[in-house]
Amino acid sequence: MTALVTGATGFLGPRLLRLLDRPVVLTRNPDRARSRIGHLAGRIIAWDPLQGPPGATAFDGVDTVFHLAGESVAEGRWSAAQKQRIRDSRVVGTRHLVQGIAQMSSRPATLVSASAVGYYGNRGEEELTESATPGHDFLAEVCVAWEQEALAARSLGVRVATARTGIVLGSGGGALERMLLPFRLGAGGPLGNGRQWMPWIHVADLARLYIHAATAGIDGPLNAVSPEPLRNLEFTRALGKQLHRPAFMPAPYIGLRVLFGEFARVLFDSQRVIPRVAIESGFVYQYPDIAVALKAILAPAA
Ligand SMILES: NC(=O)c1ccc[n+]([C@@H]2O[C@H](COP(=O)([O-])OP(=O)(O)OC[C@H]3O[C@@H](n4cnc5c(N)ncnc54)[C@H](OP(=O)(O)O)[C@@H]3O)[C@@H](O)[C@H]2O)c1
Repeated sequence: MTALVTGATGFLGPRLLRLLDRPVVLTRNPDRARSRIGHLAGRIIAWDPLQGPPGATAFDGVDTVFHLAGESVAEGRWSAAQKQRIRDSRVVGTRHLVQGIAQMSSRPATLVSASAVGYYGNRGEEELTESATPGHDFLAEVCVAWEQEALAARSLGVRVATARTGIVLGSGGGALERMLLPFRLGAGGPLGNGRQWMPWIHVADLARLYIHAATAGIDGPLNAVSPEPLRNLEFTRALGKQLHRPAFMPAPYIGLRVLFGEFARVLFDSQRVIPRVAIESGFVYQYPDIAVALKAILAPAA
């Protein structure tokens, strides 16, 4: 596989790069990319997703594109300007990426484009396989538009998989790092009553699943989550147990709303996401179980 990766400098990117053979990297900041992931990358090329298609030589020899770039949804309080950045970096950015592919005479065969479980919105107890309908809130609308831009590459003869990614758990960043402080201080606990379903995946499984999407011929949506969905309360207990800390102090919605603004609502959404396509296409998870996943991430190296 000769790959190209956008958004490679983020949380997932380096884990994916390690499984690839020095792929081409598109980044807004080549100097920063060189210092962060230069040892894992081949050519590093400047590209700002908002400004237009990547340069003509970016896709030379590339057969597989992994598109991860996008403004973080978990930072800040979702001001109107930030919501615009969250949306444009994905919708306009993906449109420009596909325009770049369209300009090539020899095109990549496959595009694996990140999406998110936010596609489904807040769905209570409903089991959500890839055929479920989308939600109607801000993130759902962003994900629908983002996927549509990626799927436009089909008309160019490119196979497109959209990886509806759950909460990615790993060390050195992401959602788990933000949760650790209150737990370590003994003030961890469920979000609200903790009954909401929480779609999660270990970062190592996620990187392997993106590769699987490319190599196993996945076409269309792919729920990129663990095969053992769990409620926020069960996750909270598993995290408290791994950290040997109490975990029964519930975090009320109103408090988190003050801290995180509109983003707080996402933390209380219930999404019982089932990775049917991954399972039926034979993907084998290394970390299907939350206790094993948290131990691998948090236990000090022997
Ligand atoms: N982590 C999760 O829990 C999670 C859950 C669901 C979905 N996802 C999706 O999976 C993808 C990868 O996740 P991640 O956690 O690795 O993402 P990340 O660390 O937040 O960011 C990935 C990269 O996107 C680029 N980027 C950041 N802001 C941008 C902007 N305003 N415009 C254009 N590019 C921008 C940056 O690359 P450069 O600076 O090098 O250009 C950054 O390193 C994202 O699209 C994310 O939405 C992640």
